[in-house]
Amino acid sequence: MNIEPQIVVGLTELRKLSDFIRYKYNFDFSHYAVASFQRRIMRVMEIHKLNTIDDLIKKLAASVTFYDDFLKEITVNTTEMFRDPSLWRALRENILPELKNKTTIRIWHAGCSSGEEIYSMAILLKEAGFNGNVKIWATDINSNVIETAKEGKYPIRNMELNEANYSRFEGVATLKNYYIEKDGFAFMDKNLLNNVTFKIHNLANKEVFCKFDLIMCRNVLIYFDKVLQDDVFKLFHESLNRHAYFVIGSKESMIWSSISNKFKLINDREKIYQALI
Ligand SMILES: C[S@@+](CC[C@H](N)C(=O)[O-])C[C@H]1O[C@@H](n2cnc3c(N)ncnc32)[C@H](O)[C@@H]1O
Repeated sequence: MNIEPQIVVGLTELRKLSDFIRYKYNFDFSHYAVASFQRRIMRVMEIHKLNTIDDLIKKLAASVTFYDDFLKEITVNTTEMFRDPSLWRALRENILPELKNKTTIRIWHAGCSSGEEIYSMAILLKEAGFNGNVKIWATDINSNVIETAKEGKYPIRNMELNEANYSRFEGVATLKNYYIEKDGFAFMDKNLLNNVTFKIHNLANKEVFCKFDLIMCRNVLIYFDKVLQDDVFKLFHESLNRHAYFVIGSKESMIWSSISNKFKLINDREKIYQALI
């Protein structure tokens, strides 16, 4: 049996690759968490049958199209509707009643992936009686997932988990009310996107583009090192109105961050913070 040797990429090679990408494409990977970045790079090299980091660099140098595909392959896009159902219940019970008094509510989903989180938010708001006064921005670095989110077309096999999450969230109806099934796909109700603006946005560029009442950035920071996480926390703080809410993933924390004193942790289990100033 012929077993292919697994490609191993060391730290020096990773640094060489990051330096090249920063120089050629002005994208800084140097603050991505090493272990997952390394795994993704080795996977890309195996897929494209590249044996050395120099082979990968040569290919990246020769083709912008390959660079675009590379960027898409190294981001982790796993997501679900109503992921962590208890968080969505907490939003409904503790956060939305506070937001209801505002004339306009602005929400930012940073790292929205293929949009399941956006449809979940739109459904949550609809069921809680919110209408035109909410504006949602859905951003991600990966243009492919943004296109999927806009299309709202998901393999029907994914809907079993989404349905189970929705039922644990204790929604008022059934998720089936929000999509039609055709040819093995679920087509989400496009009306749910009436107040949604999609945008390609790289958190590492630290660009503030609006002030928000709620920012959701779940399961994104986990791929960054502490330096970049801290910078992104500062970006979020600058992007939040006073007393606005900020949610991160259940395995993430900002307790150690240099600006944690500017936030109050209001729900430890669900990782919901409030901007103090
Ligand atoms: C695991 S998904 C999380 C999706 C969703 N928030 C959730 O919790 O289910 C992580 C997303 O972060 C995006 N991402 C990675 N680096 C990013 C960056 N520098 N700026 C913006 N988005 C980024 C990826 O493209 C991916 O879609």
